[in-house]
Parts: sequence; structure tokens; C-alpha cells
Amino acid sequence: MTNPSLLILAGDGIGPEVMAEVRKIIDWYGTKRGVTFDVSEDLVGGCAYDKHGTPLHDDTMAKAQDVDAVLLGAVGGPKYDSLDFSIKPERGLLRLRKEMDLYANLRPAQCFDALADFSSLKKDVVAGLDIMIVRELTSGVYFGEPRGIFKEGNERVGINTQRYTESEIERVARSAFELARKRGNKLCSMEKANVMESGVLWREVVQRVGDTEYPDVELSHMYADAGAMQLTRWPKQFDVIVTDNLFGDLLSDLAAMLTGSLGMLPSASLGAPMANGRPKALYEPVHGSAPDIAGQGKANPIACILSFAMALRYSFDMGAEADRVEAAVAKVLADGLRTADLMGPEGGAPITTSQMGDAIVAALDTSL
Ligand code: IPM
Ligand code: MG
Repeated sequence: MTNPSLLILAGDGIGPEVMAEVRKIIDWYGTKRGVTFDVSEDLVGGCAYDKHGTPLHDDTMAKAQDVDAVLLGAVGGPKYDSLDFSIKPERGLLRLRKEMDLYANLRPAQCFDALADFSSLKKDVVAGLDIMIVRELTSGVYFGEPRGIFKEGNERVGINTQRYTESEIERVARSAFELARKRGNKLCSMEKANVMESGVLWREVVQRVGDTEYPDVELSHMYADAGAMQLTRWPKQFDVIVTDNLFGDLLSDLAAMLTGSLGMLPSASLGAPMANGRPKALYEPVHGSAPDIAGQGKANPIACILSFAMALRYSFDMGAEADRVEAAVAKVLADGLRTADLMGPEGGAPITTSQMGDAIVAALDTSL
């Protein structure tokens, strides 16, 4: 049997630092569990632009199509702010999502017990929180045509188009229903059917998929603005949420912050199964490239490490090993180890990015 293959695209800012810690976990699997990954590395984002004049080289795109899973760090930075829109670092990431057709973006928001005090909300509102946002990732206003800045009379007009086909809604709805079945059997779909036709269609199609294929899953619908309000009021009412690309972008940041730190949250972007049965997949932390702290050993590697855990679960059918990595993270947090982003107002001595990686590896050792 061939080894599972991984393409690492560490990207910009803190991307390479947090990815270095993931490499320690990958190596641990090779030496301690006999699971060897064939790892290759390449460039995405600003660093790819610096070298090739494009945020994603065609060769890198081809490699991404060819591996079992892609692990991405983060892209972007102030150095690239003035670049033309078409070659901004973010376009590299958007191209990967689009060309790999990664339509289902899984963004868990889980509150670690040790961090419940970090939430801006009261502890009892967030303690034990474990929800999953499924964000549609390859369509909607991010990709709809027409788009652009056009001349209209003597002024300019900026245009983006929200567009969803029935099949695009159906496939992401199915992903969400499947996940709900494996979790609390409850799905809430969010759109703005009160003002947008695309929302009317979204609601209708999700309801139809539920009625015909998942009658056992408890389905509800909410307008996305009310959903944002309910997420801050009592987030534990939710189990799985399914929503479109733009609302999912906003709601997942909101949900992430409920848990105390954006630095903690992983994501998986999944597409259709490949010939080997594994889904097309890209895993990345929800946080960005954090250029303000890059290169200082301050970044929290946990979101990226938990993204690798999601790869174990969703690409490699190693759910028990994913549990092991998640438990190791929970253990170091319970032991009181904190990177700088997890320092409360009372302060304390933060550990470095690399110390956090080492502590998680040590916790993995004790799990054996
Ligand atoms: C995200 C990010 C991206 C998005 C950016 C970097 C293009 O905010 O993954 O949530 O808007 O999708
Ligand atoms: Mg975002």
C-alpha cells in the first residue's frame, strides 16, 4: 500500500511557524505509530507571488490535485496590499478552493474547558460548546458573475453577484445532513430568504433534501442575521449550521470568537471523492497570517495542528488518531500551557510556538 500523501503549503506570515509544529506531529506519527506520510512542500500566497509573480503557480495547482490532502498555513500580508486584485495572495487560496471544487467547508467551534474564561461571553454560555458550521465554499457572491468595477455614466459602480444553482445547494446540504447524523442529528440552515431570491431557493432546496433523504435529522431555518444574534445569545442551541459562502465567512468568525481564541480553530474543505475514495481535501486554520506577530515565536500552532487532526479524521479514516491529537491539545491546555494569544488580563508567562508544539508531542507520547 502506498503512503498517504500530503502537500504542505505553509504560505505567509505565521504560516511557516505554525506549520513547523505540524511537521513535528506528522513526524511523530512516522516514528511512534508507523504511519508515514509522503510530504511535499510548495508555495502559496505572497511568497509564491515573490518567486513566480502569481499567488499560485500552475505546477502547485497540479500537485494539489494529485495528493490525498493539502495542508495550508495562511496567506497575505501588508506587503501585498497594493497588488492588483487578480494577483493578491488570497486569490491563490480561492483558486485552490475553486479548482479542487471544495464545496463543503467544515468549521468547528469548540470551547476547550480550560479556555472557557477567555470567551467574551459568560462562561455558562460557552462552556462545553461544540458546534459545526458548514460553509458553502465554491460559489455564491465570492465567484458569481458579473463582477467588477464598471463605469456607469460619470461614476463607477462595483458589482458582485450572489448566485446558487440547485445542485450547488443540494450537495452542500447533503454534506451538512451527513455530519448532523454523526453528531447531534440537528441541522439549522441560514440564509436571507426574506430579501434574497437565492435565499428563497436555498431554503426550498435544503428543505427538500431533508424531507426526501434525511427525515430523521431535525431541520430548522433561520435568517442569517437572526442566526448571528442567536449564536451570541445561546450558541448551545445549535449543532450543525449550513450556510452560504459569505454568511459562512462572517458567522464562522463570530462562532470562532465565542470559543475564546481564533488561534484555536481548524477547518476542513472537502470536495467530491477521488478515485481512491478519499474526498478532495484542504485543511487550514481559520486564523489568518497575523503579520504583526510573524517571526516572533508568538503564534499559536493549535489551529493548524487541529487542522491536521481533521485530515486524519476526514481524509485518512483515522478518527481514533484524530481523537488522540485533540486530547493531547486539551491536555496541554488543562496543564496551563498558553501561547501569548491565550494570556488573560491577569497576564502570566506565555510559551513560544515551538514550545507549544513540543508540549503537544510530549502529550502524544504519554497517550501511548
Ligand atoms: C476565510 C478567509 C478567506 C475568505 C479570505 C482569506 C479569502 O476570510 O477563509 O474565512 O474570505 O474566505
Ligand atoms: Mg474569513
